[in-house]
Amino acid sequence: MRIRQVGIVGCGLMGSGIVETCARAGYEVVVREVDSELLAKGLQRIMGSMAKAVEKGKLSQADMEAAGGRIKGTVVLDDLKGSDWVIEAAIENMAEKKQIFSALDRLVAPHVIIASNTSSMCITEMASVTKRPDKVLGMHFFNPVPVMPLLELVRTILTSDETLQAAKEFGAAVGKTIVVAKDTPGFIVNLLLVPYMLCAIRALENGVATREDIDTSMRLGCNHPMGPLTLLDFVGLDTAYYIANVMYDEFREPQYAPPPLLKRMVLAGHLGRKTGKGFYDYK
Ligand code: 3HC
Repeated sequence: MRIRQVGIVGCGLMGSGIVETCARAGYEVVVREVDSELLAKGLQRIMGSMAKAVEKGKLSQADMEAAGGRIKGTVVLDDLKGSDWVIEAAIENMAEKKQIFSALDRLVAPHVIIASNTSSMCITEMASVTKRPDKVLGMHFFNPVPVMPLLELVRTILTSDETLQAAKEFGAAVGKTIVVAKDTPGFIVNLLLVPYMLCAIRALENGVATREDIDTSMRLGCNHPMGPLTLLDFVGLDTAYYIANVMYDEFREPQYAPPPLLKRMVLAGHLGRKTGKGFYDYK
């Protein structure tokens, strides 16, 4: 299957990273955001990230310009019509995702694979609203997408072998290392990562140590690039809370239950880097 144009739904933190990664790999990309303000913000984030890659010597100025020229932003979903591959990276809301999947199914050619970048939601449920459930799978990227080498492919009981194989090839073409998981809450990475981050919050809540000492322990004791509380601020506390709830709803095991402090920080709007305050201050 020849892929020329990739359609991406959503230009938030993850969507913009996926757009950049695909454009840098040589694909034409059409990205749709819900309004022009969010679209402008997303496109700006992409150009900022590519400028950083140039600064770090990971990308040439000419390649940055060429990649930028391959990206087209839109607020109209119909503009994704000619896409050869589609990745949904919209907000983590099942009703919204089902609406998008249903619309994409009517819009793009019948052979086109439709993937979701969801971090924890049920891919089978998204596939169920399409007439091509064999061509639906999860493609879970990691933040920051252009830097993180992993791509988790999520196969449902309806995903065909051909779809999985095509996704492996596409993932390799955008430079990622592939792992394959079943469609179960959290897949592989969040199944392990979320309980770990929740434990760090419980440790803080229980006064085991200061936030700095919890983070320093995992950075210097385990060589993690970030401590768990810094990572929570980076991922977004609302996102972590949301994933924990999805996992707890399905598994009903206490290790996935969001600690009270997390819920209260989310309610207070302390969502991490994106709001300027989380476990640490970023203002
Ligand atoms: N494009 C390409 N490469 C880039 C780049 C860009 N825009 N920006 C930076 N890089 C490269 C740098 O050149 C450097 O590469 P090198 O090691 O070969 O020199 C590397 O990326 C690291 O960059 P920096 O030195 O600028 O940045 P830091 O050392 O501060 O690292 C970080 C930043 C990569 C975010 C690091 O702290 C890290 O890995 N943190 C953990 C991130 C993580 O765990 N992410 C997963 C979150 S979970 C998730 O996403 C799942 C979701 O469902 C919740």
